[in-house]
Amino acid sequence: MNIPFNSPHISKHELSNIEKANSNGMLAGDGPFSKECQAWLENYTSSQKALLTNSCTAALEMCSYLMDLGPDDEIIMPSYTFVSTANAFVLRGAVPVFVDIREDTLNIDENLIEQAISQKTKAIVVVHYAGVACEMNTILDIAKKHSIPVIEDSAQGILASYKGIPLGSMGMFGCLSFHETKNIHCGEGGALLINDERYVERAEIIREKGTNRSQFFRGQVDKYRWIDIGSSYLPGELTAAFLAAQLEHAVEITRKRLAIWNEYHEIFLGLENSEKIRRPIIPKECEHNGHIYYLLLNKRYNRDSVLQKMNEMGVNAVFHYQPLHSSPAGKKYGKHTSPLPVTDDIGERIIRLPMWIGFNQHERVFDALNSSLIN
Ligand SMILES: Cc1ncc(COP(=O)(O)O)c(C=O)c1O
Repeated sequence: MNIPFNSPHISKHELSNIEKANSNGMLAGDGPFSKECQAWLENYTSSQKALLTNSCTAALEMCSYLMDLGPDDEIIMPSYTFVSTANAFVLRGAVPVFVDIREDTLNIDENLIEQAISQKTKAIVVVHYAGVACEMNTILDIAKKHSIPVIEDSAQGILASYKGIPLGSMGMFGCLSFHETKNIHCGEGGALLINDERYVERAEIIREKGTNRSQFFRGQVDKYRWIDIGSSYLPGELTAAFLAAQLEHAVEITRKRLAIWNEYHEIFLGLENSEKIRRPIIPKECEHNGHIYYLLLNKRYNRDSVLQKMNEMGVNAVFHYQPLHSSPAGKKYGKHTSPLPVTDDIGERIIRLPMWIGFNQHERVFDALNSSLIN
């Protein structure tokens, strides 16, 4: 039997919630289940407002509208990230300015941010890779000094924290993903966390195709009209119904993932001691959520052939982000002011191991990796 890389988890009430949504007779967005999910997110993050979206990508795009970005505005971000971190801003004509990552957490190197700031810089986008927080105190200090907002791409960050503060609630905006590969999911989904209440009303309008439909449904206006630019970023109730069931069990899901993560961490200690691999490093300020278990292969191994061998042995281990600064669109739309050696290196050495609720075949994964490490 092959061990898949991911297997989307169903906790308990997903399908019965969907039936309930159907019998409520309200399947478009912003119904009772959407409100339940948003209240859950607001309660857990203490954000001013949580708005469900169709994806983390949609939430990031909403940020670019909310900030009125335009051609030539610059957005500082890591290159070691998913394309949406950059694309959401490039769609508005803004230019991603790529900064290298730290060797330990693989998060943006806070010591390199200041030198990338220019007159054109409009935001710093941080990505909490694998649910491990960036060095937020330093980043928030730099942002404050230069009066630049921080956006947290917290696609992987649900139920993870920095010095006890939930990821996504420290920047001006936080963007979450509920894609099926994430700890908490609804197939495709996301949320925008708004941590500055001045943006709440406009965010609702942008999410509802540029109309004040949300205000109309709350009885605050007698008609809804075209108020602003916007798009269709509001998920339907079936999606929210599924998500509500996942959120109900979010703490338990995270606990189970952490147990799987910890067992991996223990089993690979010996290979790290013999310098064949390096395990993830979690700074003491960070409470992570067991989202990804990755390893960095020693430079002497060829990652493609290691992955191929592992897959031949039925273990679906995979690589991760292809750096954006050297990708075709990254070269066309982005820039970087200094080299990104850590990003280049990590992009070629990282592997991710199977990680899903119910996974318990750590030894088989260990054996597959160990026997694939041939120089
Ligand atoms: C860092 C990061 N940002 C954004 C996204 C996009 O998330 P979504 O698929 O919900 O749009 C991902 C997806 O994995 C991601 O890893």
